Amino acid sequence: MQVIHTIAELRQALAPFDRPAFVPTMGNLHDGHLSLVRHARTLGDVTVASIFVNRLQFLPHEDFDTYPRTLQADCERLAEVGCDIVFAPAESELYPEPQTFKVQPHPALADMLEGHFRPGFFTGVCTVVMKLFQCVFAQAKGERHAVFGKKDYQQLMVIRQMVRQFALPVTIHGGDIARAPDGLALSSRNGYLSSEERAEAPQLVQALRLLAADVLGGERNLAALERHAEQALAARGWQPDYLTVRRREDLQPPTLADLQPGRLVALGAARLGRTRLIDNWEF
Ligand code: PAJ
Repeated sequence: MQVIHTIAELRQALAPFDRPAFVPTMGNLHDGHLSLVRHARTLGDVTVASIFVNRLQFLPHEDFDTYPRTLQADCERLAEVGCDIVFAPAESELYPEPQTFKVQPHPALADMLEGHFRPGFFTGVCTVVMKLFQCVFAQAKGERHAVFGKKDYQQLMVIRQMVRQFALPVTIHGGDIARAPDGLALSSRNGYLSSEERAEAPQLVQALRLLAADVLGGERNLAALERHAEQALAARGWQPDYLTVRRREDLQPPTLADLQPGRLVALGAARLGRTRLIDNWEF
């Protein structure tokens, strides 16, 4: 496995290959990231993972400075799962000058849920993903594949929309959420949790599963269900941003006709102590 830090060397290393399969990450890799890399290995003739903590998608009060940077351990894990190339650029390589051109997703999708609580987040994500796609795919002669996790459900949808609307020649694949045995979705931010918080953390997905079960059980007052779910978490010491049931297709609130199995997703974000967790449950 090659570990590469510059765009020029990346392009050189990729030149012999036709069909790159790419997994963008911010590092501090866990089994969720690695499952995406395993998925990517089945798609192309060379597997590339990027590790780059993207300043553009962090708000000033967020954890950009303290985000765990564990390049050595990450590379060991990537080598174990058969990744071919790790692209880990310095900030000065990817953003040698202030990034004044940005990719701005439409507010209808990007200003709700995560985008509402993290203004500018999806602009930062789209801008870096567009740029990483240029680094990895620009000279590919055959199919181009990229894998994103369903853990960041809205992010996956925003990226799909970006690829569609810019007619990018890249196929986007969604990878299932990897969870700990107690149900907690794996996340780089789980490392911030104290042991008491870690024991409490699976309650987020429990609350989402309960929401889903209530809807499938025939409950129709979604607003009341959502409020109740938020209050129940708050009573356990959480600070919920949102717990909500949406249509999978566009993340809009469902109509009565949408309330059927296979069409819906419960999404949630909540803070536990100083850690903000997100999760979702398709049903
Ligand atoms: P990061 O949070 O490192 O996640 C990288 C990829 O791993 C994303 O596609 C994310 O959805 C996926 N992932 C995270 N936890 C997962 C889990 N438990 N199971 C399955 N997949 C999981 O998402 C980002 O980085 C950044 O926004 C990025 C796309 C790299 C742009 O900077």
